[in-house]
Amino acid sequence: MATVRRRVLLSVGGVALVGGAGWGVNWLTAYSRYEQSNVGKLSFRNRLKFPELIDPKPDGAGRRHYSLRLAPGTRTFRRGQKTDTWGANGSYLAPTLRMRDGDEVSVAVANKLPERTTLHWHGMHLPAAMDGGPHQMIERDSTWRPRWSVHQPAATLWYHPHPHGSTGKHVYRGVAGMIIVDDEHSKSAGLPTTYGVDDLPLIIQDKNFHDDGQFDFTETSFSDDVAGVDNRGVLGDTILVNGVHDPYVPVSTERVRLRLLNASNARIYRIGFTDDRPFHLVAAENGLLRRPLELTRLRLAPGERAEVVVAFTPGTKTVLRSFPPDINVSWPTDRFLGGDDTFDLVEFRASARLRKSPELPTRFAGAPRPIELPKDPTVRKLSFVGVQINGKAMDLARIDEVVPAGATEVWEIERGDDMVHAVHVHGCTFNVIEVNGDKPPAHMTGPKDTVYLPVIGTVRLAVKFDSLTDTKTPYMFHCHVLRHEDDGMMGQFLVVEPGTEKQVSRRLTLDDSHDSH
Ligand code: C2O
Ligand code: CU
Ligand code: CU
Repeated sequence: MATVRRRVLLSVGGVALVGGAGWGVNWLTAYSRYEQSNVGKLSFRNRLKFPELIDPKPDGAGRRHYSLRLAPGTRTFRRGQKTDTWGANGSYLAPTLRMRDGDEVSVAVANKLPERTTLHWHGMHLPAAMDGGPHQMIERDSTWRPRWSVHQPAATLWYHPHPHGSTGKHVYRGVAGMIIVDDEHSKSAGLPTTYGVDDLPLIIQDKNFHDDGQFDFTETSFSDDVAGVDNRGVLGDTILVNGVHDPYVPVSTERVRLRLLNASNARIYRIGFTDDRPFHLVAAENGLLRRPLELTRLRLAPGERAEVVVAFTPGTKTVLRSFPPDINVSWPTDRFLGGDDTFDLVEFRASARLRKSPELPTRFAGAPRPIELPKDPTVRKLSFVGVQINGKAMDLARIDEVVPAGATEVWEIERGDDMVHAVHVHGCTFNVIEVNGDKPPAHMTGPKDTVYLPVIGTVRLAVKFDSLTDTKTPYMFHCHVLRHEDDGMMGQFLVVEPGTEKQVSRRLTLDDSHDSH
């Protein structure tokens, strides 16, 4: 609580301190300028596009091969203006990769970008050396070939670069794609499954553009405006959905599944419809919920995904909007972190006749079971403050935690300041089991890999780790506000043979692929 009070005092005190009336007026002007909205400014004129779906047939050995070529390009987002971009197999964003539980997969990632990068499979359970974190740098003009067995329930995952210190920039320029994992239950779960028809990926991003049409990655430095808030990252005033500005999407079926991905650097959305129609949340980041949950609003922090099912009546329109998000940061800081912003995202236009959709079931038989904790679980405490975790900035050579393979643990995450933080842990699935001592709200209870820290205080996670071990290659845990991650709000953990936790070295010897970016 002390932190909250101090920040408000700093900001309001600043008005009085730094020069009376003139400064106060500036401050108020700045304050009003930071409330953003595009409502009424769109005409929904561009038809939404969907990333190409890659679903390769298995080769003779039963392995599916995907190939991605990261390269610069140009794209017209706004009429009459070209923007320099990065993308995979195209100028902006990346194809959707379809995979199945049980698949053997391999990916060839060719880096034709002007910089070294990595490609991380966010939400995927795979060996640390295939994870695409900051230790798996792909040099310019070289190709990285990870391979793994998919072994996890149906879910909406995504992929994006993860080079330490530059993740924000690389994602902002456009390298991000979705992964759809299916399992033996998902085809018969009663959910829409036709990609681009009634099963729609929606990759939501906010951008700023320079007058000449180029992406603007500069951060508005509002340390001048509000003391103590200087690391929010980029918050854009223009929304792209699947790389399309001002989009609409035709609806041809009674129900549509939306796979929502917040691939923004820092913005938090609160999704709903302008007519307040209810929708059903059916899946969280790492799999289906036990039963559909009816909602009218849903918060989505950077890195978070959600699958929702929406019903339509023939011949009607509605707009998917982000309402001012409940970021739970104190006044007036919340204003400067996007807490008062409203953005229309995409208009849905239902045809005069709609094809039948499957009834939404009351429960999902194939949904992952809630994670069960052992009697005396290991409890790890991580405190997120500023851009550090437990008072330490990321060090690529330091192992912060060593986890025994297959363990189920409690990770107790403290949000210790009045900023927005979203915690992501690689290579595992977790359930949120407590928010400040209380049961979490229903929409936070599904299988997750990323979670917004909704309060100053403590969120307890039940984390189930995989059994894949590596004594030399760590997984990451970090804040998914990319500015925070790049500034060092990240740590590393090894997963090792149970009983050997004490024997592994907590220092890594880095090769020179790490020394600079
Ligand atoms: Cu979405 Cu460590 O990443
Ligand atoms: Cu990840
Ligand atoms: Cu953060």
